[in-house]
Amino acid sequence: MTASTATAWIAESDRDESVPKQPQVIRTPEDMHALSAQVRAGGKRIALVPTMGALHAGHLSLVDHARGKAEFLVVSIFVNPLQFDRDADLDAYPRTWEADYALCAEHGVDAIYAPTAPAMYPDGFATKVSVSGLGAGLCGAHRPGHFDGVTTVVAKLFGAVMPHLAVFGQKDYQQLKIVQRMAADLNMDIEVEGRPTLREADGLAMSSRNVHLSPAQREQALCLRRALDKAQELARAGERDVEKIKTAAARLVEGVPEARLEYLEVVDAENLAPLAKLEGPARMALAVWLGATRLIDNDDLN
Ligand code: PAF
Repeated sequence: MTASTATAWIAESDRDESVPKQPQVIRTPEDMHALSAQVRAGGKRIALVPTMGALHAGHLSLVDHARGKAEFLVVSIFVNPLQFDRDADLDAYPRTWEADYALCAEHGVDAIYAPTAPAMYPDGFATKVSVSGLGAGLCGAHRPGHFDGVTTVVAKLFGAVMPHLAVFGQKDYQQLKIVQRMAADLNMDIEVEGRPTLREADGLAMSSRNVHLSPAQREQALCLRRALDKAQELARAGERDVEKIKTAAARLVEGVPEARLEYLEVVDAENLAPLAKLEGPARMALAVWLGATRLIDNDDLN
């Protein structure tokens, strides 16, 4: 894309806000960078919602929030091979480009950054962005290399989109904390904001992976929310002993026929260190397998 195309497009979007936008689709880091440079030169704030597509109401709540905080809204859609520890998971990840495009148009997205894998990782690509410490426990302990894959791709997305603000869901709480640390440590001058998890009416956290659940597994998946409810109930009733809270919460997963608890941990809400006593801000996080589908969830215990 050339700079003049970007200027023409911005002028058009300024003309009539009531006409649903047809988001522009950008396929390479170079084109994204050129567009963002134009937008910034025009004095506009850019917000980015990074996604891997298969957009659902949880993503759209991030999009709607971001739209209110910037004049130019970019959604990135890229299924990032670097962050998958299992090929089967990467292959099975839902890809729903047409529906995603239509949802972005409905929600006022200005540009969809959907690079190809070779554009992101050309031959000779050799850089890894790694945040130490925060990625050691929780999901990081069970998915080797996962968070390095996330930080590497998010650093690349930030470099191409140059957003002022990036919005992430708190469902991936560890990811959020790691990305915030990376942005601060590397002086990226990007506000990284976490937004509350959106849930189905029965409490299941929205996730692109929920489509893989059979009806029976979908019902059993409620054990994650029930475990969090139990922990919150105990904490709010004054229980400070984390072992007791974890045992009571884990029981609600272990009793479910198809569920296999991968981890259940209570951690400091900021540095993610495991806690023995509830004293300051704390978060419970868990990962549960239902058949071949891995679900995660978390909530605060304060
Ligand atoms: O949360 C996700 O969908 C992904 O981990 C992200 C942040 C888009 C990076 O690929």
